[in-house]
Amino acid sequence: MGLLIPILMGFLACLIGGLYVLGAFRQRRPGEPPLDKGIIPWLGHVFEFRQDTLKFLNRMKQKHGDVFTVQLGGLYITFLQDPFSYGAFVKEKREKLSFTKFTGQLVKKAFGYEDTKNDPETHHMVLIRNLSGDSLVLLTQAMTRNLQNLMFHNTDSATNQSTWKEDGLFMYSSNILFRAGYLSVFGNVPPESEGNEEKAKEKDRTESDTLFYEFCKYDQFFPDLFYGVLSPKKKKETQRLLTFFWDALAIQKVRNKDNISRWVWDIQQAKAEGGLEESMISRYMFVLLFAAEVNIGPVSFWLLLFLMKHPEAMAAVKGEVDKVLKEMGHEVQPGGPLINLTRDMLMKTPVLDSAVEETLRLTVAPLLSRAVLQDMTLKMADGREYFIRKGDRMAMFPYSAVHIDPEIHPDPHSFKYDRFLNPDGSKKTDFYKGGKKVKYYTMPWGAGVSMCPGRFFATNEIKQFSVIKASICDCHTAYLISYFLSAITNITNISV
Ligand code: HEM
Repeated sequence: MGLLIPILMGFLACLIGGLYVLGAFRQRRPGEPPLDKGIIPWLGHVFEFRQDTLKFLNRMKQKHGDVFTVQLGGLYITFLQDPFSYGAFVKEKREKLSFTKFTGQLVKKAFGYEDTKNDPETHHMVLIRNLSGDSLVLLTQAMTRNLQNLMFHNTDSATNQSTWKEDGLFMYSSNILFRAGYLSVFGNVPPESEGNEEKAKEKDRTESDTLFYEFCKYDQFFPDLFYGVLSPKKKKETQRLLTFFWDALAIQKVRNKDNISRWVWDIQQAKAEGGLEESMISRYMFVLLFAAEVNIGPVSFWLLLFLMKHPEAMAAVKGEVDKVLKEMGHEVQPGGPLINLTRDMLMKTPVLDSAVEETLRLTVAPLLSRAVLQDMTLKMADGREYFIRKGDRMAMFPYSAVHIDPEIHPDPHSFKYDRFLNPDGSKKTDFYKGGKKVKYYTMPWGAGVSMCPGRFFATNEIKQFSVIKASICDCHTAYLISYFLSAITNITNISV
């Protein structure tokens, strides 16, 4: 009996502690947003959220309004879904809402990367350097060169015969964009190491192809990895894939390449000077590869599909591209010389810009998250105020709050290539909701401190790919494109 009471007390303490950790005692405090913990302890709504984020957030918004806190896999996340109040999230000080703290935890979990000496300000500066200005000109040149190596190559190396390859449009776009983007950022095999230029190009093609297929596997596991719900078998495979990428992108290997982008070179230098060991820098290279490549192929696929399905859009884009090429003294002819697409040419295409922005609006749905570092007050545009707790997360999902809001973008599920064009051909930036101008009318690149630093390069990549594809479709293409529309429309709510 003497021993039983301490054991019972210990058990009770563990039980209460466990329930506390599982969030069972958390209650909404006065002034806080509505709290919805879901019925499964700790996991909360994670499965519903993971299965269909848009549907789940719409359901929560209908139930609670445009600000609510939900439990997802042990985290309490307050969603802000009022576009007029987005400024409060975007402009909040880093000391209160931190992007780097949030991503630090994410990259540790998903990529095995940790940099304890990391100063967020320096890290950010290094990341955004070299993706604009002169460096962008060089990156764009490299992209054209690599796209040409991959898209116009149609010889089977075994038989040395010209061959047709058949592939789905999605696979084709993802494959080409991933490989050309990877080669442009991480560099090419030097001809000296292979004996001649042709062999070096061949090696670029085969190595990047292997990387692409391994990347697709990792990408499939990523959401479950993020939410911590991977099965042991998948965990093992993820570890194998990570090891493969750490080796493929090892700093010594990358440094032996030709044409490494200034961006990668500079980041490697800065990390090494900051005292980070080489194995960690190699891990960071995979973080960069993932950030740079995960969206680019799918977006290019959608743009190409929309153009193929909308003849008026294709005609407008082709007309504009032909005009720019002619002005620059180029003409596309079957068997003619390859076109050198420069950044200057890509800056003269407002119609294509609008088609790209429309594609991003319809198909890119980022979840923008921050870690809450201090207790804080969220001040809404209409004067409402909410207390947000330190240790929680805050998030926005602009896809449902802005991209497909019919008030901001009428007929929101349809592709309208000229949605972002004024009648005089300039870029349209005036969009309204309830008669009030909406500042953040699309957010495919995020916003504020964490806004995608690669957005200019990404836009150029998408435009280069579609211009080359649209202007040479009948001339050089090495692939016979086939696509299965019914399969595509099944997976999204987009009308093509
Ligand atoms: C269609 C293509 C792309 C889309 C839609 C996209 C979108 C985004 C978004 C939404 C974020 C910010 C996330 C947030 O605020 O939570 C982001 C961050 C980032 N993106 Fe992109 N991105 C694309 C292509 C690229 C490319 C081509 C590069 C590099 C060459 C790149 C490099 C990065 C990096 C390094 C970050 C992290 C920034 C930081 O830690 O401060 N992205 N991207």
